Formats: sequence, C-alpha cells, structure tokens
Amino acid sequence: MHRLIHNTWKLLHKLLNALEKVPGMRGLMTHPRVRAMREEILARYVAGLPDRQYWNATIMPALLKAGFKRILFVGCGSYTRDVHQAFESQGVECWTSDIIPENAQWGNPDRHITCDIAHIRAHVPEAHFDAILFNGVMGYGVTGTHMKTIAPVLATILRPPALLLIGWNKGLVEDPLTLPWVTERFRHEDAWSMPARKEFSASTHVFDLFFKETSE
Ligand SMILES: C[S@@+](CC[C@H](N)C(=O)[O-])C[C@H]1O[C@@H](n2cnc3c(N)ncnc32)[C@H](O)[C@@H]1O
Repeated sequence: MHRLIHNTWKLLHKLLNALEKVPGMRGLMTHPRVRAMREEILARYVAGLPDRQYWNATIMPALLKAGFKRILFVGCGSYTRDVHQAFESQGVECWTSDIIPENAQWGNPDRHITCDIAHIRAHVPEAHFDAILFNGVMGYGVTGTHMKTIAPVLATILRPPALLLIGWNKGLVEDPLTLPWVTERFRHEDAWSMPARKEFSASTHVFDLFFKETSE
C-alpha cells in the first residue's frame, strides 16, 4: 500500500515536470496555485523516499534528543518545511539558510539567512552552532571542489563538540570521505545509535556523520 501511494506521488510529480516542458503550458505551471499544488506533491513524493524515511524515523528523533542549543539547517524546500518547527518546538534554536531567496518561504521565518553557504561567516560569528545539517546540498549546487572553501567555513562556525551531517548522492558528487579538506577537519564517527555512514539499497543517498571535537 505504501509503495502504491509513493508511486502515485512520484508519477504525479513526473507528470507535472513533463507538462512544464510542453509549449504553452509554462504560464499555467507557474501560476501560484499550481505551484503550491506542485510543491505539495513534491513534498509527499519525497517523504516516501528511503533516505527521507530514515531521516524522519531515525535521524530526527536522535538529533532532537542530542541536547543541541543552536543548529543550522542548510538548503530549504517544501519537503523540509517541518524540520525547523520540530527543533524549535523542543527548544533548539534552528537557523535555516539557502542560496535562493525564494526558498526562504520554506525556512524558519524568524531565523533564516539567504546566502551562499561559502559566505555564511558574514552572517554568523565563530563557534556559533552545535550542529550543521548539510543534507542534499552537495550535488545540488555544491561540488567536492566547492567543499575546499566550504568545509573550513563550516568548521569555523561550529562549537566543539559539534556535528556536521552530510547527506549526498553516489554518482552525483564526490564522496566526502575522499575529500581531505573534509576529513582533516572532521572525524567520521557513529553516534546516537546511528552508523557513521548510512547507505540504502534502493537509493543512491548516503548520510555521513562527522564531528569536530576540538577548536582549531
Ligand atoms: C536538494 S535541496 C536539499 C534541501 C534540504 N537540505 C534537504 O534536506 O533535502 C538543495 C538545496 O541546497 C541549496 N543550495 C545549493 N547550493 C547552495 C549554496 N552554495 N549555499 C546555500 N544553499 C545552497 C539549493 O538552493 C537547494 O534548496
């Protein structure tokens, strides 16, 4: 049953993407009501993906209990709109950020930063966050080479002991464990009953847990 529902959302999502490419349909597809419907369909489709189910069933409950005071969630979409609310409702200050101004609508209305993550230091002080959730950003704008600049910036704004969670897709971007600018600053480690690396048989998505243990 779950598969059937997921496949229905997937089909609808693909259909709407295809319709956008039909000459003359673009105007309709960008109408605010149609866009809102598309975002809802996208959110429901994404919610059924194996990595998102692991995120909801395992990662979020573990991180909500981890005792963080202030965290940064990078990259916002309709399918992540509940994340900041979940943290804030547990007393965790959850900042969101995205390079695309329009995506602020899916972030925390009270604590959102629109910027390239490479420039986040212009907005926050050193050692500001206990955790950075960097899921789906590598591969969707940020490459392994960009991480050469970004990893040191992320390390600077983290207050040890601190978590850097990287979610990425095999085949889309370099494995962060092969990037010395990541591994020289962060230790790859199991935590809160989660493996340091979680892979999926039915998805290319990978979650890696990295930790910054000491100040630089
Ligand atoms: C695939 S979405 C992932 C969203 C979300 N983090 C998640 O858990 O699914 C990638 C997001 O990263 C944002 N992004 C890409 N490059 C970025 C950059 N250099 N700085 C900040 N955000 C960026 C995109 O605008 C997009 O919203």
